[in-house]
Amino acid sequence: MTFSPKPVAALVAAALLMPTFAFAAPPAPKGHAMVVSVHHEASDAGLEILKQGGNAVDAAVATGFALAVVFPRAGNIGGGGFMLIRLGKHAQHGEKSGKTHFLDFRERAPGAATADMYLDKDGNVIPRLSTLGYKAIGVPGSVAGLVYAQQHFGKLTLAQDMAPAIRLASEGVVLSAGEAAILHNRNLAGFPESVRVFQRGGDFYKEGETFKQPDLAATLTRISTDPDDFYKGKIAAQLSQSITSHGGLITPADLAAYKVVDREPLTGQYKANGKTFDIITSPPPSSGGIVLLEALNILQGENLPAAGGDRSAGQVHLITEAFRRAYMDRADYLGDPDYNTMPLKEMASARYAAAMRATISPTAPTPSDQLKRPAGFLPPPPALPPAHTESRETTHFSVVDADGTAVSMTYTLNGFFGCGATAEGLGFALNNEMDDFSSKPGAMNMFKLIQGPANAIGPGHRPLSSMTPTIVTTHGGFFRRPKVEYVIGSPGGSTIITTVTNDFLSQAVNGLSVQAASDAPRFHHQYLPDTLEFEKAFPHDVVDTMQKMGYKVSQTNPADTNTAGVWGGSELITIDPKSGALAGANDPRYKDGKVSSY
Ligand code: DON
Repeated sequence: MTFSPKPVAALVAAALLMPTFAFAAPPAPKGHAMVVSVHHEASDAGLEILKQGGNAVDAAVATGFALAVVFPRAGNIGGGGFMLIRLGKHAQHGEKSGKTHFLDFRERAPGAATADMYLDKDGNVIPRLSTLGYKAIGVPGSVAGLVYAQQHFGKLTLAQDMAPAIRLASEGVVLSAGEAAILHNRNLAGFPESVRVFQRGGDFYKEGETFKQPDLAATLTRISTDPDDFYKGKIAAQLSQSITSHGGLITPADLAAYKVVDREPLTGQYKANGKTFDIITSPPPSSGGIVLLEALNILQGENLPAAGGDRSAGQVHLITEAFRRAYMDRADYLGDPDYNTMPLKEMASARYAAAMRATISPTAPTPSDQLKRPAGFLPPPPALPPAHTESRETTHFSVVDADGTAVSMTYTLNGFFGCGATAEGLGFALNNEMDDFSSKPGAMNMFKLIQGPANAIGPGHRPLSSMTPTIVTTHGGFFRRPKVEYVIGSPGGSTIITTVTNDFLSQAVNGLSVQAASDAPRFHHQYLPDTLEFEKAFPHDVVDTMQKMGYKVSQTNPADTNTAGVWGGSELITIDPKSGALAGANDPRYKDGKVSSY
């Protein structure tokens, strides 16, 4: 479409005068210690552990295992994820107060995986091979990650932390209407063990019925008494047998070789409203932290309040242009840090951000195919041919304990119930994380992400992720220690990073309450495809303004067939820096979630 800048400037100016979208948010619950997750039973499991004297890590372990039972489409022991920890005042295990850890328990490609394993003989991507069924499975990391966290940072025992999950699996949970409907998921239909476990052999569960998972209860009990059994013992043998007998690649040796990596988080700063926010976020193999920091660095030099209020056309424009630029670098450079050298320092530099900012027009989008990276900053990216979607599910939760330890954790099976298959006799769904690799450089994955050679499949490699668990601290004063102010994270595949960025900006810049930030209708741009996506509830006047400005817009989120035009799940905690009071936000997009606190 063609347009002239003047009317567009007038449109933006007119949009700026419009009132900002009004959020109807209930007051956020408050407490001294808090767990926020997408399921009330899982939040209460964490709270039970906090009340027993566990710390935030124990509570996160309890909530993580509980979500594997009560939220099986994403909560898992058959997938992987990231846990970001910032230790509170009285850190145990010889650790210092304020120390941070990023536990990477991302899935790994099996040893027999090859760069072209999803291509036919002509080099074309074979549809669904990386998303549905046994070939899509990466070596699961969740059990190793939760056990590592418990053993290195917890106060109670693994058996104590796992007790609520085991109880929920053996005694069962009463299903809400939404949960019963989700168990009908068609991804499960092709796998008899999934139909047996989640669909009662075809006699589908209904609202109000109790869903019991005896096989999963037995598996969890075995893990709680001998966590090594999952990777090196009988569970490992049974799991590998279940996968390889159906054409999958994961051998006992792949499971035995799995390792959690305790990485340094990425850090950056953002100044707003007279405050300096220290951002502690996810390093590769997450792309989230670096894209978040690059976008924030670009935005640091823009006057967001002058551009309008939260979700105003003026802010949506500037934030989108920052996203577009940061996601371009994601596509070109990022992959598994254990196998790639990546220009992370350069990507996070203020000078580079300033040069990027200079390419943003105040009144018009930069079409992605015309976007040029400023010269002289980053090495030339590896060459990439140009490019070609399905449903998705991950889950995020946040925990803060009375000592100030904060945990931000996101983990996933990737798709809804992962690859659709359930480990025979073990009662848990298996991931399809292999789709997060580039099946072929230039080909889109299920999140329409195009990724480069750095994210090619290789034995033992971790696929690039967008999961972005993040913790933000502020200085309480000159001699004061930094204090945690925000615990942030979300599911949503490629939209995770834009949701996390906006949840931070809505609170830190626009002054929204934590619940209002979580409620706010979402927008997303990821460079390619060159489309500005809006949730259904996004104010139509702003969407129209963006379209008139020259953006290609979409308000249906076509990639997301499960959540009817919404995405993300911001289960957040914010701590008032003055009073220390905690406020939690349960994303209204999840009807069964809960802020549990005492
Ligand atoms: O790691 C990633 O980026 C994806 N596997 C996350 C998938 C996801 O968030 C699906 N959720 N709604």
